[in-house]
Amino acid sequence: MVIVEDIEGVRAEVSSRRRQGKLIIFVPTMGNLHQGHVALIRHAKHYGGTVLVSLYVNPLQFGVNEDFSTYPRTLETDKAVLMEEKADILFLPDDQTMYPRGIEDQTKVEVPRLGGVLEGVTRPHFFRGVTTVVNRLFNIVQADIAVFGKKDYQQWIVIKRMVNDLAMPIEIVGVDTVREQDGLALSSRNNYLTPEQRRKAPMLYRGLLRAAEKLRSGERAYERIEQAAFEDIQSGGLRPDYIGVRRQQDLMVPDEADTAWVVLGAAYVGKTRLIDNIEVEIKV
Ligand code: PAF
Repeated sequence: MVIVEDIEGVRAEVSSRRRQGKLIIFVPTMGNLHQGHVALIRHAKHYGGTVLVSLYVNPLQFGVNEDFSTYPRTLETDKAVLMEEKADILFLPDDQTMYPRGIEDQTKVEVPRLGGVLEGVTRPHFFRGVTTVVNRLFNIVQADIAVFGKKDYQQWIVIKRMVNDLAMPIEIVGVDTVREQDGLALSSRNNYLTPEQRRKAPMLYRGLLRAAEKLRSGERAYERIEQAAFEDIQSGGLRPDYIGVRRQQDLMVPDEADTAWVVLGAAYVGKTRLIDNIEVEIKV
């Protein structure tokens, strides 16, 4: 695995692989790699091209009271995971490379509306931070395909919209969420949980599952389904932030004609905020 830290270095690596006829498949991460990331890298490897992973904890997507300073940074174990998974290139930019003029002066990219619902209500800075960094990373890396986890469902939809709106020549692929045996979606933030909180954490998934089952069995009173899931999660000892039954394509409230839904939710366990979602498709 080649490790590069600057833009020229990454572009030189990418161009030489492209000259050999290789597809470039990009997996952007913030490190602290777990089996969810491994699934992304394995998916990327399927294409048979060059797999490029970036690792950068992006300050722009954290709010002032969020966990930027305590976000787990585990570079040496991350490198070992990437070697094991046979990633080809690791891009390790620093703040100077990503935001040479500082974050205030950085040109921002914003997806309106889609970036302001659900997660965007509680974390109004978040998607702007993500789309800004991902846009810059895409321009640096110039990959053919980029792979994202569907655990961050809204992030995946927002990025697809950005790529479409800005006519960016890259294909965006989503990979299914990897879960613990009890259903908890893998996340770097699970590291923050005490044993007691870890025991309660799967209640988010269970609440969403119940909502998904109702949709599958024909119920269409979305607000009632959301409210019941909210109460289920609350009675499991979590503090739900939102539960939303939305259509997959654009996260709008579905209408009768829709057949592809997603139930999304966020909940606090202590101070840790977890998110999850379940896709529901009805074949007609
Ligand atoms: O999902 C993540 O890890 C981050 O939001 C991303 C896409 C790497 C941007 O910083």
